[in-house]
Amino acid sequence: MARTLITSAIPYINGIKHLGNLVGSQLPADLYARYLRARGQEVLFLCATDEHGTPAELAAAKAGKPVAEYCAEMWKVQAALAQGFRLSFDHFGRSSSPQNHKLTQHFAGKLADAGLISEVSEKQVYSNADGRFLPDRYIEGTCPNCGYDKARGDQCENCTKQLDPTDLIEPRSAISGSTDLEVRETKHLYLRQSSMRDQLNEWIDSKTDWPILTTSIAKKWLNDGDGLQDRGITRDLDWGIPVKRGEDDWPGMEGKVFYVWFDAPIEYIACAAEAVDEGKISDWERWWRVDKGGEDVRYVQFMGKDNVPFHTLSFPATILGSGEPWKLVDYIKSFNYLNYDGGQFSTSQGRGVFMDQALEILPSDYWRWWLLSHAPETSDSEFTWEAFQQDVNKDLADVLGNFVSRITKFCRSKFGEVVPEGGAYGAQETALIADLEDRLARYQARMDAIDIRKAAAELRAIWVAGNEYLQSAAPWSAFKEDPERAAAITRFALNLIPFYAGLSSPFIPDAAAAMAEAMGTDLEWPTDAKAALSRLPEGHTFTVPDVLFAKIADEQREEWAAKFSGVRT
Ligand code: MF3
Ligand code: ZN
Repeated sequence: MARTLITSAIPYINGIKHLGNLVGSQLPADLYARYLRARGQEVLFLCATDEHGTPAELAAAKAGKPVAEYCAEMWKVQAALAQGFRLSFDHFGRSSSPQNHKLTQHFAGKLADAGLISEVSEKQVYSNADGRFLPDRYIEGTCPNCGYDKARGDQCENCTKQLDPTDLIEPRSAISGSTDLEVRETKHLYLRQSSMRDQLNEWIDSKTDWPILTTSIAKKWLNDGDGLQDRGITRDLDWGIPVKRGEDDWPGMEGKVFYVWFDAPIEYIACAAEAVDEGKISDWERWWRVDKGGEDVRYVQFMGKDNVPFHTLSFPATILGSGEPWKLVDYIKSFNYLNYDGGQFSTSQGRGVFMDQALEILPSDYWRWWLLSHAPETSDSEFTWEAFQQDVNKDLADVLGNFVSRITKFCRSKFGEVVPEGGAYGAQETALIADLEDRLARYQARMDAIDIRKAAAELRAIWVAGNEYLQSAAPWSAFKEDPERAAAITRFALNLIPFYAGLSSPFIPDAAAAMAEAMGTDLEWPTDAKAALSRLPEGHTFTVPDVLFAKIADEQREEWAAKFSGVRT
């Protein structure tokens, strides 16, 4: 049986994610995981919270809580929201887990043994006004690469270049805005990834099937001279994974922790070990070690475009540099940004709709469908309340929901809640079966390729085809002159419901489950349209389901648009 390992970029612990974050990694990863499982594959789908670094420390301080306690609480909040959006992780871990401590220290030790770590006396920015060393992301200034004036010390959001704080032009403290900064000397570890340029280049060149967005970002930084600079992998912070060389202390590194971007991707691996320790899976090395079964695994990662450099350069450098047979990623699906109503979603500014707020106003399927069918794949895309209302009302309520309700209610009124007997499928049904056979193949091809918007368009077209069939076959007219014909049409249309349920389940799992349940069937992926559309036998009983999707009224849309027009406090 084919096996696929799927990871989503792990969300930062500090605060609830917005819908732009969600559609940029976790949600499409879930779509793919659900699809592959439905097709009978063995899947391990992992995600976790990214808990280290200054943002966590500062958020905890702001909340007036010890950082460990803050992280434990926020993990629960994020896990509950993931559940609310039906993200089907096999395990939702924590980068602060003991398993990740051990593995991160292990990797550092192996890299040091391979001569890939150097100890460097480094100049670090100290803010006199704030009375502390400033971590990279708390220094802002002008990007030396593109001139963007709000670049952070770790990365420029505008051009995606990875930076060191001392690269910034006119640096200032992001905490106080103070420019009274001085540079102090301290010792740090560096990962000598520049020595791996050829190896990384060759590896990326071998990935001819990767999305252009992924390879273009990777190649840009690989060949841009300093894109593959050696990176500092330690920090002067309290909260994090203590710097050790394997299980041994590292002289001179007392009191320092690994840089959050060093330990975070290692959590992808540690997460699987956590799953074993919690009894969720029996073995993690058969997913992660090429020498222990992992050679049969296809590993697919999902992430926003700003994460691509870390996943195509730094993390592979860690894996390759260890000299051990860990699994390297086979395919990276990356995303552009989703914008919000004429601007950007922003966590720091509280702009847009956040995961908890979204679920307070509508069930997850509405959001899943809209976000996935507008996934920012080839360019940035934009959420507007008008578009959301229009698409939800049309696709979910008018097309899919209406189809299900119309045929089940019609059947109930004329034949009862039982699949009618008599009559046979005729030319119209045969034609639709052939059409759906083609469409099914196209839909699967899009899903296999993780072409999400196009897959959504195929699924929508499959729903539309059923609606058009029902409209033109019109069993309500046939019923008067030819009840046998009406029975055959009704039987065929009812059979479309479990067919739709199976195909729709990766996008809208709750509605799919409700459809299957109403029809008294299990959720099943149809292998061929013909057999699937004769699945409900004559005499099989069903129930008319509750309304699957309610329409969004204009007043409702206006109310939400107003409510979410400001910033979250
Ligand atoms: N927390 C990071 C972000 O949200 C993603 C980390 S992904 C990992 O941008 F590879 F580091 F795990
Ligand atoms: Zn820049």
